[in-house]
Amino acid sequence: MISSHYEQIAEKFWSLPQKPGEEDNRDRLFMDDQILHAHLEREIESRLKGVKTILDAGGGTGRFSIWLAKMGYQVTHLDLSLPMLERAKSNAKAAGIEGRIAFVHGKLTDLSAYGDNSFDLVISLDAPVSYTWPKHHEVIQELIRIAGIAIVLCVSNRLGGFPGCFNPLRKVPFLLDENDPDSAMQWYVWEKANAENWEPNFAAADHLLTKGMYDDPERTLEEMKNGGTPWPVTYLFRPEEIQEHFQAANLQDIRLAGPGALARTLPGDILRKLLYTEAYREPFLERCYRFDSEPSVCGMGYTSLVVSGGKWKEVPDTP
Ligand SMILES: C[S@@+](CC[C@H](N)C(=O)[O-])C[C@H]1O[C@@H](n2cnc3c(N)ncnc32)[C@H](O)[C@@H]1O
Repeated sequence: MISSHYEQIAEKFWSLPQKPGEEDNRDRLFMDDQILHAHLEREIESRLKGVKTILDAGGGTGRFSIWLAKMGYQVTHLDLSLPMLERAKSNAKAAGIEGRIAFVHGKLTDLSAYGDNSFDLVISLDAPVSYTWPKHHEVIQELIRIAGIAIVLCVSNRLGGFPGCFNPLRKVPFLLDENDPDSAMQWYVWEKANAENWEPNFAAADHLLTKGMYDDPERTLEEMKNGGTPWPVTYLFRPEEIQEHFQAANLQDIRLAGPGALARTLPGDILRKLLYTEAYREPFLERCYRFDSEPSVCGMGYTSLVVSGGKWKEVPDTP
């Protein structure tokens, strides 16, 4: 089946040996990642009432599963990539909670092993759902089905990504230290140095806005067939697409947010001061959370769109 080819592309890409290290380093290198991370922690915390069991679907190296297991929740961490799972296990061991997380090598496109309401809380963060095109809509429905109390999704943001089509310097304000030798940092430094050669691609921008993708999936498939390891096909959502799924499933208290909406209005030096002055950091992150959670700016976040909802009007104390 053609759709499984696309998942193989995602599996090959996320299993590259450098991926676990890159994921572990993101918060250290990039301020937008810190803001997203802080936003997601706040969003998850607001959904923990009555929760004992959690599925982290596409859990990567354990940024959230380890944090939640440390707080005492029973966490299942599922991921497509074996190197990501191995790193998550060693991170869990280093955090002293080895054995308190169930690690599963699995796919978001096949959650049939889990019955309805299997986990109190289901989270899928930093875009695993966006890599399941063309099954992304079914995957959202499945994640909602297996969530008993609440769900927090973070997917790629179409309207947030669009301005990047016209700005080769989009990441520059978020780079913490351009002298850091890390290869991911040096890639953005190279991009900045070569910005004068940049030309806008209006057709690609239009394709993103109308189809929700940066590239033609056929081209990605071709690159994979030719032995390459392309960036997986990524579907960037409009806010209302996910909202419709949540409404159709009768979810309550649906919240949409665009983390990075406030931060992207600020120059890098100011952002650095706000995040790296102890007295400013938490108050600033709190304001980011509040501003970025305004429904009218959610499409204008940076790369991510966050949608969360609950299955109950009022969560009972013992569900
Ligand atoms: C950007 S990482 C985010 C990891 C983690 N959620 C976080 O926020 O730190 C995306 C993760 O999704 C996983 N992934 C991508 N497609 C998947 C699929 N179809 N099924 C399960 N996991 C998938 C990748 O292996 C990778 O670990």
